[in-house]
Amino acid sequence: MKRFLKVEDIGNLDAALKEAAEVKKTPFAWQNLGKNKTAILIFFNSSLRTRLSTQKAAQNLGMNAIVLNVGTDSWQLETEMGVVMDGNKSEHLREAIPVIGSYADIIGVRSFAKFESREFDYQETILNQFIEYSGCPVISLESATRHPCQAFADLITIEEYKKVKRPKVVLTWAPHPKALPQAVPNSFAEWMKVADVDFVITCPEGYQLAPEFMKGAHYEPDQKKALEGADFVYAKNWSSYEHYGQILSKDMSWTVDAEHMSWTNNAKFMHCLPVRRNMIVTDEVIDSPNSIVIPEAANRVVSAQVVIKRMLESL
Ligand code: CP
Repeated sequence: MKRFLKVEDIGNLDAALKEAAEVKKTPFAWQNLGKNKTAILIFFNSSLRTRLSTQKAAQNLGMNAIVLNVGTDSWQLETEMGVVMDGNKSEHLREAIPVIGSYADIIGVRSFAKFESREFDYQETILNQFIEYSGCPVISLESATRHPCQAFADLITIEEYKKVKRPKVVLTWAPHPKALPQAVPNSFAEWMKVADVDFVITCPEGYQLAPEFMKGAHYEPDQKKALEGADFVYAKNWSSYEHYGQILSKDMSWTVDAEHMSWTNNAKFMHCLPVRRNMIVTDEVIDSPNSIVIPEAANRVVSAQVVIKRMLESL
């Protein structure tokens, strides 16, 4: 595997889920695979889960894992081509990336949407420069448009908790005080459309995801109808794609509370975390036995380890 950016990169999902179960059962069985190999994880944005789980996954495979927080641990990096660098950015990505590549065997990159231009964000300008200039396999640790390590962990979690062969999985928008990227819902939709689930997206008007992510998904604007009979409720906020990066609604009737969960088939509650309590979900729901947000986060190690293992196997 040379890159992990989207669902196509993982190949057959059943095979990936089997491998994930094996990795989870015996996480240290491949310690020799990563011996004398280095993973460098570059963070342009904050993280708790992605940073720790990817480091742990690399270490489980015997790798040395180095984290670099751009700007605080390094020079401020210029990301746009053709600019006169007379501001506060001391180094250009064009040099920084091949330098990082010369120290690494595998590179992970977190680079969120900037919300200055939909075109710039959806072209994945920064991630693509790492792919082009690093000379290394590249893992997206959440890019402007996708979060594949999260979506893979979400799928592993659904596989572990499902009670029927083809569960109903509902992605519901929920309110948030800040404008958030579309990466998590985009990836979740992309993966669920391929998985063996009955997938429904519900959100207020104006919050539909980009056409490539909505295409093939069942869209239900009525949140109650969408949640009826759900086996899994995946709550997430995102900003508008159409009115790019804007907050169109803070309607608290979309907050997932006990009444919302009562419409479901005793559904499990999921969220990628971090979560704003009593905005996205009430304390009562996230603290209930049906909440699986912690095992979901724990599975981030498993998803990252499968990806890094496959990359090491193809070096
Ligand atoms: N879910 C997730 O990616 O968490 P972090 O932003 O803390 O890494």
